[in-house]
Amino acid sequence: MSAAHPTGAVFKTRIVPVRNTNLGAFDEATKLEKWVLPRDQGTIQPLRQAAELLKTSSIPVGFPTETVYGLAADATRSDSVKGIYKAKGRPSDNPLIIHICDLNMLRDLLAPTKTNGQTAYTLDPIPQIYWPLIMKFWPGPLTILLPNPRPSKLAPEVTAGLPTFGARMPQSPLALSLIKLAGVPLAAPSANASTKPSPTTAEHVLYDLNGRIEVILDGGPCLVGVESTVVDGLCNPPVVLRPGGVSIDQLRGCEGWEGVVKGYKDGSELGSAAPRAPGMKYKHYSPKAKVVLFEATLHPAAKPGALGAAPRSTDDGLVPHVDLELLGRRAKIGIVRTRHWDQWAGFHNPHDNQVPGDQRPINHVTPHDNPRNTYPQLRVGRLWEGSPRKSSAPYNVRHLADLIEISLGSETKDIAHGLFSALRELDQRDVDIIYVEGIKDEGDSAAAVMNRLRKAASIIEE
Ligand code: TXA
Ligand code: MG
Repeated sequence: MSAAHPTGAVFKTRIVPVRNTNLGAFDEATKLEKWVLPRDQGTIQPLRQAAELLKTSSIPVGFPTETVYGLAADATRSDSVKGIYKAKGRPSDNPLIIHICDLNMLRDLLAPTKTNGQTAYTLDPIPQIYWPLIMKFWPGPLTILLPNPRPSKLAPEVTAGLPTFGARMPQSPLALSLIKLAGVPLAAPSANASTKPSPTTAEHVLYDLNGRIEVILDGGPCLVGVESTVVDGLCNPPVVLRPGGVSIDQLRGCEGWEGVVKGYKDGSELGSAAPRAPGMKYKHYSPKAKVVLFEATLHPAAKPGALGAAPRSTDDGLVPHVDLELLGRRAKIGIVRTRHWDQWAGFHNPHDNQVPGDQRPINHVTPHDNPRNTYPQLRVGRLWEGSPRKSSAPYNVRHLADLIEISLGSETKDIAHGLFSALRELDQRDVDIIYVEGIKDEGDSAAAVMNRLRKAASIIEE
């Protein structure tokens, strides 16, 4: 399939598989200083072609990193960087992260360009504060803010007018070799269409950007699943601007970063008493369907109640505000489970909570076969009003809704890994609403998971 590009060009988007073995390594003597391409040119042949495109055209290239798929362009050329904003439909006041393959490349960006075209520096231009982080987390899911020298080698569009630029050395050998072959730092945002969840497979990128780019390098699903942590160490105390693959606790363990503070807002800082106004946040990471996020303190399935009965207090542990409009018109309800919710998240309303003599209908779910299911953690079922066990029940059995449930597991690592993919899968199955079980945002990449969910959600229950 192809589509018209805003410039009028029409692209046929190709997914190019790349084997994830023998793609290069850091130079043994100098480690992060220098990334070295493999001798076997065969393994990097598909990367060579993509790198050629990056050097010569203004059409960005989709590529995998360990966090999410990125959309790369030569960070030193304006036309090439503008190609990213065009393909994504991204507002141009949001700066892009610069991806470098080694410290040599980074130093080259930090040294001011001399008028004779030469660069020169005597002191290390990488600020001291970042060394403990670089040694510990690079290559990896961490982006650091650095002063952008004047004049700068970076195209002005990359930094959106800011005096700093964000730099990251990704962990994926595929990404590192692509940068090395391009010979220039690559500006790359996540490769989703603006406002959509970030892509963690090549197919996700194709779904969003088909016809808008030529090549998507396919290195398989991303390991981490949420984006890099963005930090600013140029101010005191240092600040986390976006939670991500490296946690605030991990940062606090590094010299000079003990006092690092949270510099982002996602509603969690307001505390549970403060009302949260949906719609005040800017739309991000959002599937088409409305997302209802349950903060970790609520466990709707712990003591399920009758759907359709008056909502009880949240202390009961009920699903407090199931949109009753959806029931009875056979809506498709998506459920994303993590640590505590039961199967079907309490929608099945098992008989054990029924009061003797209570005439309220009880709901149950019948799982049904999903032969084309290629998504192992996904199950589908039908929600019925009425009990299958009580044939003499004084009410008819009624098909209330279809349920599509994805269970991400209880490990934070697995939840981060599967989150965006789950939201996209439910979207493609045209669900009307998605109920998500949140997790406590402590440790690991849990803060990143909850940050993305709070931004995706239009309703937050707590
Ligand atoms: O894991 C990642 O970081 C992925 C992969 C592809 O590397 N990239 C990514 O890029 O998430 P993007 O463009 O979707 O997000 C970049 C984030 C934004 O929140 C942006 O505002 C911030 O980094 N950022 C970039 N440069 C900045 C700067 N100079 N000052 C403050 N924030 C900056
Ligand atoms: Mg993004």
